[in-house]
Amino acid sequence: MLSSLPSTISRLKPGPRYSFTYSLSSSLKIFKTQQTIPRWSPLYSLSTHSTSKILTSLKPQFESVVSKDDLVVLGIETSCDDTAAAVVRGNGEILSQVVSSQGDLLAQYGGVAPKMAEEAHSQVIDQVVQEALDKANLTARNLSAVAVTIGPGLSLCLRVGVRKARKIAGSFNVPIVGIHHMEAHALVARLSERQLQFPFMALLISGGHNLLILAHDLGHYIQLGTTIDDAIGEAYDKTAKWLGLDMRTGGGPALEELAREGDAESVRFSTPMKQHRDCNFSYAGLKTQVRLAIESKNINAEIPISSASSQDRRSRADIAASFQQVAVLHLEERCDRAIEWARKIEPSIKHLVVSGGVASNQYVRARLDHVVKKNSLQLVCPPPKLCTDNGAMVAWTGIEHFCMGRFDPPPPADEPEDYMYDLRPRWPLGEEYAEGRSEARSLRTARIHPSLTSIIQASLQQQ
Ligand code: KG4
Ligand code: ZN
Repeated sequence: MLSSLPSTISRLKPGPRYSFTYSLSSSLKIFKTQQTIPRWSPLYSLSTHSTSKILTSLKPQFESVVSKDDLVVLGIETSCDDTAAAVVRGNGEILSQVVSSQGDLLAQYGGVAPKMAEEAHSQVIDQVVQEALDKANLTARNLSAVAVTIGPGLSLCLRVGVRKARKIAGSFNVPIVGIHHMEAHALVARLSERQLQFPFMALLISGGHNLLILAHDLGHYIQLGTTIDDAIGEAYDKTAKWLGLDMRTGGGPALEELAREGDAESVRFSTPMKQHRDCNFSYAGLKTQVRLAIESKNINAEIPISSASSQDRRSRADIAASFQQVAVLHLEERCDRAIEWARKIEPSIKHLVVSGGVASNQYVRARLDHVVKKNSLQLVCPPPKLCTDNGAMVAWTGIEHFCMGRFDPPPPADEPEDYMYDLRPRWPLGEEYAEGRSEARSLRTARIHPSLTSIIQASLQQQ
């Protein structure tokens, strides 16, 4: 059915027929009757319970069968322009993965238009989730929990995923885990690299975020750097659009491909924020430099690259390569400094995780591998399909938190459609590293939700 959609659908592993003799969800029915049901506040309200505490409150016959490996979690992701769902087992097996991308809309609008994106999510969400369950040879009845991204992202888009997740969780009486999108980008590295232990560093690079973090532990993150304006993915996408590239499969991949033909030394762009000795990022100025270079070479974005003369194509490729070199050099410089900072806080650091859509870029991976090796660390880069937005990262992060008892009980089956969901469009992951605080920071602080780390740490202190 999904073949008619403008989608990239992939399946990583064939899903074995999975039959659940006892599911934690049925156990939780018992739990539910024993507790007062808290209001919807993911990763918070139930944080004082651990699954082991819950398990010991269950009938003895459930205790032996409910282990992490037995969990089966559906992850739903709709924070931006990809509608994604996946089913993952507690042992890290990806039973299914489905992504429907809005490539045509991206090409038409040159960016994500929230209202259009919301409509596109609404059109495909049921099919995407159904296909994820079908490919996993499961029904929603077999699920242990549903994990869904609740922020950061576009409210209109987040709402579509959350509504669907709550509908399933309510109908089948399974608990629900609210997920931080950027935490999911970081933690998916523990799915692809099962040996990866805390603490580690992570560079998270996507269309809307540029984050450098120190991950002390699950739910405990220090923000070493963030962007003060645009993220690197946004700069790739705009550059690709202005160079007349085919945006249907994403601006980033198209630009990466064209840059291979170009001379990275041909246009001299200056590296952002050289004078700021911190770990923050800025890509707005580089975007302006690129736009001016494109104008000065009389490149007409209306003429698609496929119809450009060979000389025109050459000058577009030169700009693409020069842009990419400087955009990534900015990442390299910030990572170098962040490693120094992170080692002061946590000398045992061994790994730098690089994740988020832009981490699927081969040039980015190669350059960061160099930085990491120079600093005697190891690079952990999930496979490209797990770097770009996907449901598996959400399901896996759900599993990690679920095992710590951070989830909400099933919502009511008859929840009204206009229910006020707890969505967190602007939601920091961690607290800022105080010594690294920069004067060049975004002034946009209104309507920011308390960070995930502060919520979890506060709830741990209450225990
Ligand atoms: O993480 P992601 O899938 O969605 C967001 O959370 O934003 O990242 C999407 C971003 C887009 O800007 C896209 O152009 C960029 O990642 N991207 C790439 C590549 N693949 C995706 N950028 C550069 N090179 C790539 N190969
Ligand atoms: Zn993302």
